[in-house]
Amino acid sequence: MDFPIETVRGKFPALDLTNKGRRRIYLDNPAGTQVPQAVADAVARCLLTTNANLGGYFETTIAAQQVVDDAHAAMADFLGAASHEEIIIGANMTTLTYHMSRTLGRGFTPGDEIIVTRMDHEGNVSPWLQLAEDLGLVLRFLPFDEKSWQVEETALSALLSDKTQLVALNYASNLTGSINRVKALTRIAKQAGALVYVDAVQFAPHGLVDVQDLGCDFLVCSAYKFFGPHMGILWGRRDVIDALQPYKCRCSSNDLPERFELGTPQIELMAGLTAAVDYFADLGAAAGEGGSRRRKIAKAFEVAIAHENPLALRLIEGLSDIEGLTIRGITDPERVSERVPTVSFTVDGIVPETIVRQMNAENIFLWSGHNYAWEIVHQLGIPAEQGVVRIGIAHYNTAAEIDETLESVHRVIAMLRQQR
Ligand SMILES: Cc1ncc(COP(=O)(O)O)c(C=O)c1O
Repeated sequence: MDFPIETVRGKFPALDLTNKGRRRIYLDNPAGTQVPQAVADAVARCLLTTNANLGGYFETTIAAQQVVDDAHAAMADFLGAASHEEIIIGANMTTLTYHMSRTLGRGFTPGDEIIVTRMDHEGNVSPWLQLAEDLGLVLRFLPFDEKSWQVEETALSALLSDKTQLVALNYASNLTGSINRVKALTRIAKQAGALVYVDAVQFAPHGLVDVQDLGCDFLVCSAYKFFGPHMGILWGRRDVIDALQPYKCRCSSNDLPERFELGTPQIELMAGLTAAVDYFADLGAAAGEGGSRRRKIAKAFEVAIAHENPLALRLIEGLSDIEGLTIRGITDPERVSERVPTVSFTVDGIVPETIVRQMNAENIFLWSGHNYAWEIVHQLGIPAEQGVVRIGIAHYNTAAEIDETLESVHRVIAMLRQQR
């Protein structure tokens, strides 16, 4: 089936906005995606018709509880969880990870070890680093391979010991775009008796997550990266989270997942979260899948990937002929399935921000900097205050947008070189 790009784009009102008559090209997607009208409508509807706190006996409180339950059920389908009780919803990935790391820390003792990667966003490094400082734990850094752009199994094996309590891994990098072999890495870590905490923030917009197949213990993602509202979701394996006692109010529920969800939830955003998951299901249904919501979501990713990957290759190919430009990630077309369509690069002698500012002025939205991939820029020897230029594709982008962006990159770099 051809990807229904016009139908898809028609669902996102932001894609029609212009500035001074110029259409916006959104390539800032790894930092946050646009939302379908249905997501905004669901948030508004919740605020306007079911706005109440939880736990009462009147109509709106009962309806609000349904919104909360629906969001947990939707995310269970989205991540392939065994139960909605395994879905913990909170402010964002970083807050949830700080929360879970503090909870896990209650069971760690001085001298215990944690492994973090040099490929991760700081949201999956700093919480563990600071926990280690507080508790006298040993933190070990797992580098990524600069040829494969992935964390290698042998490198992980070399760091594991009988003291390793936890391995924090990323699924896909927000800078290089490369995807780790999380299932294989998890198997190795689990054989050594460690818990595995996976950051799927950048993978979740581009591929079907299956937590049961991965075999990890925790997996976290952020809805605003997959066309939903600003919130984070943490999946935890039931037997693991049921044995944990988080910091919480004494009188609040001990049930799952409420035990981990502190205070009043973002109920209206949960309504938007369900709509974002249903957006994927609708895309899968339009592509011919008639089964469960989970199967429709799987189908949606199948067609979205088939649309995204050629765009990524077109972008990589178009950048490759610029002299002095280095792509920091997988460029081999044969390995396109081992990356998400996020492409970062540096250009000899040019500060990334100067390229990005000029392109932003042309209504092409993208980012420069380290983007919190703090360890990656340090491992690669890229000045952290400069970082990279990052172009991040989502499935609503078009080949014409990529061509326009490439034309702009070429022109802007030539212009900046002339000015030197
Ligand atoms: C890979 C990765 N992990 C974690 C985060 C942090 O997510 P949040 O803003 O939900 O805390 C980001 C944000 O860009 C990210 O790209």
